[in-house]
Amino acid sequence: MNGVVLEVRNIYKKFGNIEILKNLSFSVQKGELISIIGRSGCGKTTLLRCINCLEIFDYGYLRVGEIEIERTNLNLASKNNGFIEEIIEEKAQKIRQKVGMLFQNLNLFPHLTVLENITLAPIVVKKEPKEKAIDNALKLLEKVGLKGYENRYPYQLSGGQSQRVAIARSLAMNPEIMLYDEPTSALDPELIGEVLNVMIDLHQEGMTQIVVTHAMNFAKSASDYVMYMENGEIIEIGKPEKIFGEPNDPRTEAYVRLFKE
Ligand SMILES: Nc1ncnc2c1ncn2[C@@H]1O[C@H](COP(=O)(O)OP(=O)(O)O)[C@@H](O)[C@H]1O
Ligand SMILES: [Mg+2]
Repeated sequence: MNGVVLEVRNIYKKFGNIEILKNLSFSVQKGELISIIGRSGCGKTTLLRCINCLEIFDYGYLRVGEIEIERTNLNLASKNNGFIEEIIEEKAQKIRQKVGMLFQNLNLFPHLTVLENITLAPIVVKKEPKEKAIDNALKLLEKVGLKGYENRYPYQLSGGQSQRVAIARSLAMNPEIMLYDEPTSALDPELIGEVLNVMIDLHQEGMTQIVVTHAMNFAKSASDYVMYMENGEIIEIGKPEKIFGEPNDPRTEAYVRLFKE
C-alpha cells in the first residue's frame, strides 16, 4: 500500500530569536527510506524532533498518518490560544505514538534487561498482556540478529548491539515511521554495518524510515531519496544518484565533494 504517510509543509522553528528551521516542505511515501545529510548545526536533529513532536514547530503544517497539526499566525493571535495549545498537545501525543525515534547513543535503560527494555512501553503504555509483549520482543530480537540476548543488561552489550536493541524497542510500539538521529556516529567502524543492515532489512519489509547520517555510502546505496540541508533550509532533495552524482545546487555539490576521495 502506498501513499504519503508524512507531510511537512512550510515549517518554521525558532529557538529564542534565532530561526533554526526555515520554511521546510517535503513528503514521504509509505515504505521509503530518506537520508538527511548536512553539516553539524544545520537543523537536522531539530527537524526530527519536530516530526515526532518532541518540539512543536512555530508555524506550518505537519501530517503523520491521519493526524494533522497546523499552526498559523491566526492561531497565535487567537484569544483561544490556550485552547488551541491544548488541542495541539493532544495531537502531538498521538503523533509521538506513531513515530519511533532512535538517538545517537544512550537509548536503553541501564538498570533493565534487554527483554525488560523492549517490553516496558508495550506493557505500561499500550497495556499489552505480558506474555504477548514478551513473545513479540523475542521475535523482534531475532529480527535484529540478537536472539538469545534477552537477559543481558545494556552494559553487557557492544554499541552496535545496544543500538539494535534500541531499534527493537522502538519497533515494539509498532510505529508507522522510524526516525534515526546519527544512529551509528558513536560506534566503532566495525560495528556500523550491523546497525545499518537492520535499517536495510526494515526497508525491504516496507518500514518508512528517515535517517540523519554521515554514513555517505549508506545514504548513497540504501536511500530512496537524499535530503541535503544547510543553515536551516532544505537545499535539495533527490535520488541518491542525483545528489551524489549531479546535484542541482552548487551548495549540495560542495558538500558531497567533501566525501569523495
Ligand atoms: N534547545 C535548543 N535551544 C537553543 N538552540 C538550539 C536548541 N537545539 C538546537 N539549537 C541550535 O539549533 C541549531 C541546529 O541544531 P541541530 O538541529 O541540533 O543541528 P544538527 O542536528 O544538524 O547538528 C544549532 O545552532 C543549535 O545550537
Ligand atoms: Mg544533530
